[in-house]
Amino acid sequence: MHAFKYRGNKLCAEGLSVENLARRFGTPLYVYSYKTLSEHCLKLKKAFAGVNPLICFSVKANSNLTLLKSLVSLGCGLDVVSGGELQRALRAGCPIKKIVYASVGKTEAELRRAIQKGILFLNIESLPELAKVNSLAQALNKRARVAIRINPDVTSATHKFITTGKLTNKFGIDLGTAHAILKHRRRFAYVDILGLHIHIGSQITTSTPFIKAITKVAGFIEELKSDGINLEYFNIGGGLGIVYDNEHPQTAAEFARGIMPILKKTRLKIILEPGRFISGSAGILLTRVLYLKHTPRKKFIVVDAAMNDLIRPALYGAFHTILGAKRIKPRMLKRYDVVGPICESGDFFAKDRLLAEVKAGELLAIMGCGAYAFSMSSNYNSRLRPAEVMVSGSKAQLIRKRETFEDLIRNEII
Ligand code: LLP
Repeated sequence: MHAFKYRGNKLCAEGLSVENLARRFGTPLYVYSYKTLSEHCLKLKKAFAGVNPLICFSVKANSNLTLLKSLVSLGCGLDVVSGGELQRALRAGCPIKKIVYASVGKTEAELRRAIQKGILFLNIESLPELAKVNSLAQALNKRARVAIRINPDVTSATHKFITTGKLTNKFGIDLGTAHAILKHRRRFAYVDILGLHIHIGSQITTSTPFIKAITKVAGFIEELKSDGINLEYFNIGGGLGIVYDNEHPQTAAEFARGIMPILKKTRLKIILEPGRFISGSAGILLTRVLYLKHTPRKKFIVVDAAMNDLIRPALYGAFHTILGAKRIKPRMLKRYDVVGPICESGDFFAKDRLLAEVKAGELLAIMGCGAYAFSMSSNYNSRLRPAEVMVSGSKAQLIRKRETFEDLIRNEII
């Protein structure tokens, strides 16, 4: 569900036509819907009301400060994975005790900052990392709050680059090692191990892998209890899939129905780390058609956005629906490749896609661009990254300026 709909023949972002937004702010342009963003957040809250969880939005999905601030005002915490994201969380006004931090490779400087700030907890991904956190906390004369990221060794049917819960992936600690760490936790005298964390992958459309992983960890929590080890938090990560094409992902309510009974039994405080579920369908990328190019074999629509702005199709073969800013009758459908100007054949948004006939100068909307879209953008080909706009009702707010050439070369020395 999202608030990008046709009104008459015009595609609108809530109460504003996308053509109007493109004219005011230029293209390529990221447009977010506040209504969609907040509704998704509230849907999860409602579905999990029975355990009153802390919902930590995954900053990597969309790290725009205004968007983060909006979610923080709705009561969300934030899940960060780098010093930069921690700074963003602080700048967005996120309460310290609502910040969790995961990453297999946190640097000493990053760990020190997180310990000094006293965030809710660091998700520890290896024994050497735990030892490092202990010695850094000792040097700072602080106690470090941590959770252990468990690798539950479950399979989830998603793209191989975004599955994280198998023991062949680099993430988390196996149950045996985690048990040994917890048994001997007093060896880490400056560390408080407060909870367990899992995150099994992303864009997962069925509840089964979640149920499997959570059941496994819940069993482990019981085992720990009988060993006299009592924890406070269970962070079940993110990973909920959304609709890009014709997927039928579990709804928040279905997801909650399956796992809430297991979560309740643990009696721990529950944390969720959704990224895509909250912001994925709350954003679109507007792009103008530059040229129509017909070769003997193909029809190309060349647009002014490129893989540097949205890399998901090139990186994962990801499908994003493409709509015209003007609704056109379906009988005018033709098969096109939608491509950007970058010097690589991987620079495409759609291949052999049936689309309504368009003309140069017309506007297209690439849907599902609220997560892992702008946040994965780059300056490849020395392209300036797009502006970002947040729409609420019939108001549009510029929340990131389009980059300039000066921004592009800011740190270069000649
Ligand atoms: N927690 C942790 C520890 C994570 O690593 C991630 C995502 C999340 C939460 C949020 O997952 P979500 O609810 O958004 O699925 N770039 C890829 C997705 C990478 C996901 C990385 N980790 C894509 O564009 O599909």
